[in-house]
Amino acid sequence: MSGTKILIIGAGGQVGTELTLQLRERHGNDSVIATDLKDKAEGIFEAGPYHKLDALDKQGLLDLVKKYGVTQIYHLAALLSATAEKNPMFGWELNMESLLNVLNIAKDNGVKQVYWPSSIAAFGPNTPRIDTPQYCVMDPNTVYGISKLAGELWCDYYFKKYHLDVRSLRYPGLISWKTEPGGGTTDYAVHIFYEAIKNKKYECFLSANTGLPMLYMPDAIKATLDLMDAPAEKVKIRTSYNLAGFTFTPAELAIEIQKHIPDFSISYQPDFRQAIADSWPASIDDTQARLDWGWKNDYNTAAMVEDMLLNIGNKLK
Ligand code: SER
Repeated sequence: MSGTKILIIGAGGQVGTELTLQLRERHGNDSVIATDLKDKAEGIFEAGPYHKLDALDKQGLLDLVKKYGVTQIYHLAALLSATAEKNPMFGWELNMESLLNVLNIAKDNGVKQVYWPSSIAAFGPNTPRIDTPQYCVMDPNTVYGISKLAGELWCDYYFKKYHLDVRSLRYPGLISWKTEPGGGTTDYAVHIFYEAIKNKKYECFLSANTGLPMLYMPDAIKATLDLMDAPAEKVKIRTSYNLAGFTFTPAELAIEIQKHIPDFSISYQPDFRQAIADSWPASIDDTQARLDWGWKNDYNTAAMVEDMLLNIGNKLK
């Protein structure tokens, strides 16, 4: 695509880091403008344009959109579930206002496409927990979840009312090794690998049998790029698509890790995050994404565990 200029908000985060790399590989370093809270570009960001940008800085965002003639925005900055519970008003402000700024600036300045992730957190205690359908009761009881559900509806509103091409996925827990997640309820499924390799034991903040939907990062990036590449008429859902990889409990994940590290042990000390996890689905029905734009995950739990142990092992050497 010539003339493509992509701006990423939250480029230094768990998803942003890997998405920036992939988008720069595809479109060239200069076509992908990375932004985050850090003052200066570090590491991978040095290869192309980088700007410090607070996701709430409306004027700063507008200036960058105009300066570069931005055609696509990936808005990835958010306060995740556990962090937002500790500071509900700021969680709401950051997650909602930043999205509305992006939508308004995109609509008024010729930005062609917007990507914004939703989450399994948009579901709630009265949502069917197993194979959660695309359309069902959604009664989130966390600030993060409330902001994701409201955000989904705003995305749909801007698509219908202003024909803004907004696309979104409800990410499950994302597992990755390049950049650690921060402040999420599903983060145990990343921390466990570091502790397994370093100390051969892990104390989990969720109980043994808490099943949650998860996805390995290469699949999450593939889903994101495939959704953004899909012809507009195939993207039938403009709130946000259900997306799934696999489901496991902490006890099941520990057994998978023990296949590689036999003396690994896990113990359980559930904290406030248990109630958050209990309000979320255990598995997701993502048929609609599969039908509409051909979504298919490559990794199952065993393949993910093997790849995580290999890469984190190398990283810690
Ligand atoms: N991984 C997120 C969290 O735990 C869910 O979207 O907050």
